[in-house]
Amino acid sequence: MVTVHLIALSFVFLTMVISDIQAVQWFFGKKQVLSEEHLRRSHYAMWAGLIAMIVSGMFLAYPEADYLLHNVYFIAKLLFVATLIVNAVLIGRIMHIATTTPFATLSSHEKIVLLSSGAMSLVSWIAAASIGFFVL
Ligand code: HEM
Repeated sequence: MVTVHLIALSFVFLTMVISDIQAVQWFFGKKQVLSEEHLRRSHYAMWAGLIAMIVSGMFLAYPEADYLLHNVYFIAKLLFVATLIVNAVLIGRIMHIATTTPFATLSSHEKIVLLSSGAMSLVSWIAAASIGFFVL
């Protein structure tokens, strides 16, 4: 099951690199707007990767649930995963902005929401993976 967990993580990593390349192109104005089709595909791929991580993680955790549920690092990992779920819902609601509006023309509020969501996602993925690799 660890192998499934790691394959799902590799899939998420690849999807994130592809999505972030698009996001950076939009951010710097190299692309005025992004393709709705590409964005929707990347978003669904991230959801599929996240769900695969959660399901394989549950199988991994089940045999040692008593110990893990008293482990502060595991609880922290679950909080990062919860943040990823909330953030994925938020991204689903706001990503259409990138298909209609150049980043430079957005209001400061919209820019802050988008950049915070990107930062939250990056930090949570790195934190959840680091706890898995170096602590559990
Ligand atoms: C969604 C984000 C997640 C990421 C990025 C992530 C990442 C990782 C990584 C990199 C490992 C180390 C695998 C290895 O030993 O080489 C790991 C292990 C583990 N993960 Fe996750 N994981 C995630 C979600 C979850 C969830 C939701 C659960 C439980 C419900 C979970 C439970 C575990 C357990 C129990 C281990 C230890 C496996 C072992 O060594 O016996 N993970 N995780």
